[in-house]
Amino acid sequence: MVRKVFLAVAILSGALLLGACAGAQPAADQVEIFSWWTGGGEAAGLEAMLGVFANDFPNVEFINSAVAGGAGTNARAVLASRLQAGDPPDSWQAHAGQEIIGTYVAANQIEPLNSLFDEEGWIDVMPETLIPLISKDGNIYSVPVNIHRANVMWTNPALLAELGVAVPTNWDEFLAACETIEAAGKICLSMGEQWTAMHLMEVVLLGQLGPDGYSALWDGTGDWGSADVTAALETYTQVLQHVNSDASGLTWQDASQLVANGDAAFNIMGDWADGYFSGTTAGGNLGLVPGEGYGWAPPPGTDGTFQFLSDSFTLAKNAPHAQGALDWLKVAGSKAGQEAFNPVKGSICARTDCDKSLFNAYLQTAMADWSTDTVVGSLTHGVTANDTWKNEINTALGLFLTNSDVAAFQAALVSAASTYGN
Ligand code: GAL
Repeated sequence: MVRKVFLAVAILSGALLLGACAGAQPAADQVEIFSWWTGGGEAAGLEAMLGVFANDFPNVEFINSAVAGGAGTNARAVLASRLQAGDPPDSWQAHAGQEIIGTYVAANQIEPLNSLFDEEGWIDVMPETLIPLISKDGNIYSVPVNIHRANVMWTNPALLAELGVAVPTNWDEFLAACETIEAAGKICLSMGEQWTAMHLMEVVLLGQLGPDGYSALWDGTGDWGSADVTAALETYTQVLQHVNSDASGLTWQDASQLVANGDAAFNIMGDWADGYFSGTTAGGNLGLVPGEGYGWAPPPGTDGTFQFLSDSFTLAKNAPHAQGALDWLKVAGSKAGQEAFNPVKGSICARTDCDKSLFNAYLQTAMADWSTDTVVGSLTHGVTANDTWKNEINTALGLFLTNSDVAAFQAALVSAASTYGN
C-alpha cells in the first residue's frame, strides 16, 4: 500500500515536473504571428483571417504580436531587434520584393517554402509576376496574402461638388484645384507622418516620370540625377505646400479621416484606406459607402499604372513553432483565408481564383486595373528597394521635409542609389 502511494506520488511529481518544463518551453500547439495590423482597416482584416485559422486549426493557440504603426515603421524596428537577438516570431508580415529578397533572404533569416507551395498547388493560383519577387535561386520565401494598390487618390465627392472642382488628372490641374479648395478654407491634400510623405513622393515620381522612367530608377538603368527627376522633385515640393500643417503628428487613418469628414478634398494613400473608409464602425472603421462617402481616382499622371505592393508571411529560420507557422501559412495562402481577409482589409486577393462578388465597388475597380494596367512597385512598401537603400532615402527625405532643398535632396538620392542600389 505504502509502496503504491509512493509510486503514485512519484508519478504525479514527475508529471508536474514535466508540466513545468513544458510550461517553460513553448508548447508545440502555438504560433506567434508578427504584423503591424492593429488599427482601423487593418486589425479587422487580421481578425477575419484568424477566424479561418481558428476554424481550421482549433488546437493551435494564436499569439498575435502585432506592433502598432502604419507601414510597419515601429513593428519593423522591433522585429529587427528580435531577429538580432535570435528571438524570431514564428512568422512575420513582409512585403514581396526587395524587402524579402534584399533584406530577410540576404540575412538568411527565413526558410524556403517550396514544398508548401507544391503541396498546396499555389504556383497555379498565384500571379506569375509575383513569384519572382518572393524568390531567390529557385527558392520561394513567403506566402502572399494580397495585392494592395499604392497609387490611389481618395476624394470627398460632396466637397468637390460643392466647390465645383473636377478631379485633377495632372499635377498642374491639381495645383490649380488646391487654390480653389484652400480659398474655401479647406485642406487640399491631407497627409500624415513621414512614411506617408514618402508614399506621396513615390506617387509624384511615378506621375511625372511615367512607369518606365519610374521603374528605371530602381533597376539601375535610370538616372537619379536627371533633369526629369529634378522636375518631379520640384513638383513634389509644390504639392507639399498644399498639405495640412500638422501632418507629421498624424497617422494615415487621421489623414484619411480628414477627407471623410470633409475637412480635406484629397488624400493619396494605399487602398488599405478603402478598408478604413468602408469597414464597420464596430470594427473601428468609418462605415462609409464607396462612391458616396468617399471617392477615388488615379493620382495625377498615373492613370493606366498600378503601383503595387503585396503583404506576405514568412517562416522564420529556427522558428520556435515551425509547425504552427506552417499551419498559419496554409491559411494565409488559402482561398478561404484570402476571401475572408481581403474584402475587409481593402486589398484584392493575391490568388487569382477568389470570388469577385465578395468585394466592394472600389475593390472591383482595383481587380480590373490589376489585370490590365502597367504594374510597377512601391518604394515605401518594400517592393523596389532593399531596407538599407530605403532607409537612406528616408533620412534624406526627413531633411528635405524641413529645408525643401531640392538640389541637396536629389544629390542625396543619387548617392543613395549608387551606394546602396539593389
Ligand atoms: C503597408 C501594408 C499594408 C498596410 C499599410 C498601412 O505597408 O502593406 O498592409 O497595413 O502599410 O499600415
